[in-house]
Amino acid sequence: MDPSFDALVARARRLSVPGRRLLGIAGAPGAGKSTLAERIVAAVPGSVLVPMDGFHLAQAELERLGRAGRKGAPDTFDAAGYVALLRRLREPVADEVVYAPLFRREWEEPLAGAVPVPPDVPLVVTEGNYLLLDTGPWAPVQDLLDETWFLAPDPATRVRRLVERHVRYGRPRAEAERWVAESDEVNARVVEGSRARADLLVRG
Ligand SMILES: Nc1ncnc2c1ncn2[C@@H]1O[C@H](COP(=O)(O)OP(=O)(O)OP(=O)(O)O)[C@@H](O)[C@H]1O
Ligand SMILES: [Mg+2]
Repeated sequence: MDPSFDALVARARRLSVPGRRLLGIAGAPGAGKSTLAERIVAAVPGSVLVPMDGFHLAQAELERLGRAGRKGAPDTFDAAGYVALLRRLREPVADEVVYAPLFRREWEEPLAGAVPVPPDVPLVVTEGNYLLLDTGPWAPVQDLLDETWFLAPDPATRVRRLVERHVRYGRPRAEAERWVAESDEVNARVVEGSRARADLLVRG
């Protein structure tokens, strides 16, 4: 049976024992990862959200690499930087605040130094598309997480929400639909291939 939101919160709270734990939420574009992660963090005292999306490469670097046309694909992120951050987050150092980046959707650019993670934070929730890939620079991620959830709502619902979100952030509808079909859904298939590696499946 699909876990309720309250059951997910209870599960996250149980993880958040003294000592640092990392919870990862994976899923295809538009699955609702950021929304769920924000709600979990709001419900678990002292927890902090560190999105994988903060490791989007800057637009200028994507253009230099010739990858701007498929922003969001696995090789358009600084995956090794994300892995290095997760390693730091696993081993808190007394008196040291670790800073994580955010992705600013209104700019479509990352922003460094945006999320402070003090050493006494019991639970770090991280979320993103590629947490469960077992290839290339993403492969170390799963072992750095204490528990992983895969969020997989009905695909038609997911695609509809994704188009609406692109429109809300200013894309004309036809362009939003094309971007979802030609870019987001290509990435969605890659993400779907990693679903079986999760500890828990959440249909939302
Ligand atoms: N349970 C829900 N009910 C209704 N709308 C939702 C729900 N969860 C998410 N949404 C909406 O669906 C859209 C996609 O959600 P969200 O941005 O959280 O997905 P995501 O998995 O983080 O996507 P991405 O991989 O692109 O970052 C958003 O507009 C969000 O407000
Ligand atoms: Mg998101």
